[in-house]
Amino acid sequence: MKTKKTFYITTPIYYPSGNLHIGHVLTTTLAWVYRNYKKMLGYDTFFSVGIDEHGQKIQKKALSLNLEPKKYVDNEAQKFIDLWNLLQIDYDYFSRTTNEEHERIVNLVFNKMLEKGYIYKGYYEGLYSVDDEEFLTISQALKKDDGNFYHPISGHLLKEIKEESYFFKMSKLEKWIKEFFLSNPNFLSNKSTTKELLNNFINKGLEDLSITRVSFDWGIKISKTNIKEPQHVIYVWLDALFSYLSTLNYSEEDDSLYEKYWANGDERIHVLGKEIARFHAIYWPIFLKSLDLNLPTKEIIHSWIITPEGKMSKSKGNVIEPIPLIKKYGAEEIKYFFATQINIDNDFSYSEEMLINVLNADLSNNFGNLLNRVAKMVNQSFPNGTKFDQENILEIDKKIFEKIETLKKNFDFEMSNYYIDKAFKYVVEFSSNLNEYIDKTEPWKLKNDLTRLNVVLNTLLLGIYQIASYFSIILPSKMSKVFAFLNVKNNQKFSFDMFDNKKIVVTEILFPRIAK
Ligand code: MSP
Repeated sequence: MKTKKTFYITTPIYYPSGNLHIGHVLTTTLAWVYRNYKKMLGYDTFFSVGIDEHGQKIQKKALSLNLEPKKYVDNEAQKFIDLWNLLQIDYDYFSRTTNEEHERIVNLVFNKMLEKGYIYKGYYEGLYSVDDEEFLTISQALKKDDGNFYHPISGHLLKEIKEESYFFKMSKLEKWIKEFFLSNPNFLSNKSTTKELLNNFINKGLEDLSITRVSFDWGIKISKTNIKEPQHVIYVWLDALFSYLSTLNYSEEDDSLYEKYWANGDERIHVLGKEIARFHAIYWPIFLKSLDLNLPTKEIIHSWIITPEGKMSKSKGNVIEPIPLIKKYGAEEIKYFFATQINIDNDFSYSEEMLINVLNADLSNNFGNLLNRVAKMVNQSFPNGTKFDQENILEIDKKIFEKIETLKKNFDFEMSNYYIDKAFKYVVEFSSNLNEYIDKTEPWKLKNDLTRLNVVLNTLLLGIYQIASYFSIILPSKMSKVFAFLNVKNNQKFSFDMFDNKKIVVTEILFPRIAK
């Protein structure tokens, strides 16, 4: 029997051909933070990451290095595993589309679509972006003066291709997807993406989608399905999207994860960048509907990290590598920066200077300083700890307790809308409020009034505890040190007497100031 609500969350499975960059770090960090928050609320969670290993782009890259594609992706997979290790991202499953189980599931899905009459054979003539693994019509493409067609968003060169292909009948579910979008305006976190997909694709009428390719062979071959035509490989996006189900062992003998987190799951969430919204928000729900499977309950679409050259991407040569940053500033610090500074609805222009400023301002000057000041004062005047003293609480102290209650409400409200940035602005603001409270109550002048000093310091400890609880969603290892300094258990339930007679021992500066 299921006792807890479930929460399944995925990142996109990244192409292993590109250089690692801070865009990967951003998406994975967001998903990891949402998972941590839900876990804190008591959900039963499952968090998956992975890589997208098939397709023409990967084959081309492997070939350019004179490597067998499988050998190539095996090497590249390790890069991502190492990155998530270094960044201290703990996940439940690392999905690889070259896994046998995944290939079996994609075959099965293809057969089911065939049986249900969604697939027919035809001939594709049109444009294709190998870098985006995306088909485009002439009206969607951008024609430049050089006579070539380009992808309107990524700017990649498009190839004209003419080849035999199997197609998926999008038209069969066109009306359905339109109604689905209209009756679920909050399916995508981002309103403007919803509008764009409706105006530019759904309302214009969906073209049937080419779902097999014959001009290369690095992919799942349909010869393993009920159609025995070895020259056809399954379109990489059809293959990749179903990784979200193969991760949960959909249709395996033991499909208990699928049953728990997808078929009977409470929340099924995908996190992704806006450039792949079309695949996730139109094709994926249509594929699932064609098989009568549950849809995701929500898709969180985030904006891009940009530089003056535009979206950060390999082809623009403006990629910022994550590993040196993590080594220089720390895994939790980097996650703190990306999770709290980016508003998922707006593009974000990154600079290292800003990273340093945020870490210094929020963690070192604000919270770190607060913790150190309070610990020092408690130690000096109350080596055996303070006590909650309800009778001597003044108006100014009450205000702090009220602020804790307001913080809880605001934090949960923003997180329920997936705005980590706004939720943590409230946390940092409350930390500033506590520093201001110190300035106003002037505890250093209260050495002869221990009753008052006790109330002030005890109030501060309770406030610090609330901040540390929220920070532990992003900074779990730093905060477990804070909880140890404060002599309380990790995420102990808040109670007014929790600091009664607790010695406070700070043994380390957790957030040293970073010199510019
Ligand atoms: N393989 C597909 C996804 C298949 S999911 C079934 C793919 N891979 S990718 O390697 O190109 O990764 C794209 C994702 O990386 C984006 O959706 C986003 O999550 C992240 N980002 C890549 N560049 C980024 C920025 N410049 N800014 C923010 N996120 C970025 O697409």
